[in-house]
Amino acid sequence: MSAHNPTKRRISVPEIRAKKKVEPIVSLTAYHAHTAAIADQYVDFLLVGDSLGMVMHGFESTVPVPLELMVTHGRAVVRGSKTALVVVDMPFGTYEESPQVAFRNAAHLMKETSCGAVKLEGGRRMAETIRYLVDRGIPVMAHIGLTPQSVHTLGGYKAQGRSKDQWDDIEEDARIVEEAGAFAVVLEAIAEPLAARITKALAIPTIGIGASAECDGQILVMEDMLGLSPRVPKFVKKFGKVGDAINAAISDYADEVRSRKFPAPEHTYSLKVANSGGGTKPSGAAPAKSRTTRRKKPKIVGC
Ligand code: KIV
Repeated sequence: MSAHNPTKRRISVPEIRAKKKVEPIVSLTAYHAHTAAIADQYVDFLLVGDSLGMVMHGFESTVPVPLELMVTHGRAVVRGSKTALVVVDMPFGTYEESPQVAFRNAAHLMKETSCGAVKLEGGRRMAETIRYLVDRGIPVMAHIGLTPQSVHTLGGYKAQGRSKDQWDDIEEDARIVEEAGAFAVVLEAIAEPLAARITKALAIPTIGIGASAECDGQILVMEDMLGLSPRVPKFVKKFGKVGDAINAAISDYADEVRSRKFPAPEHTYSLKVANSGGGTKPSGAAPAKSRTTRRKKPKIVGC
């Protein structure tokens, strides 16, 4: 598929909002510059999800993720991308205490990463905070249904709304975060008919992950859909076999190092010999440019 955004500038929060009922919103998580640059050509927004704690850093849940880790990865994704809106997750413990604490930490994330919006988990309990942030210039994406930061109160990563007696509560959460000013809401692991019903009821876009094809957009954790994560939830479709490709490449590398097949002459530098003009010239083929000399200085791109 070709690049979807010919404007060459970042998609804005109002533009994401305006896609509701017009076209599906495409998004993925991203944690580092190279993958952000690839995904940037195809997605509307990139989420620097706190799932990076589990995917990149080996934590058992997202609960231990510190704010500065989100800053580090947020900067990398903003630098690596050009046109996608970059949304950064507020990690557990950085926004629940009060709207003022949430503002301080959200402002820190935005100033340090140049991201365009933040995401936080929770329905009605976060309404006052969402309103406080939005009124002060911080666009907020909400996240309801299965909220991984609450794994200890939920008792595991369980799909939500699978019995109808839970529907009113979840639907009310969606309505309240919209009323509070969220520009979009992630619906995670919500029973399909409920997600479809919420999508119809709201004026803001719903972004489904394990929810419904009727959501206004979809998001997946990039490593899950690439086939890199060792275990994935039921709702993940693997669009690639990147784990197998990495395995094969590293296995080949190890074999070639052990058999001294790698490095070959084209990967090595020959001795330079002095020429008649007093300078030097290479004795053999021109040496390949090193990665260091070829690498371009990374540009820092705002949102
Ligand atoms: O942290 C994350 O990656 C997320 C997505 C799964 C929506 O919140």
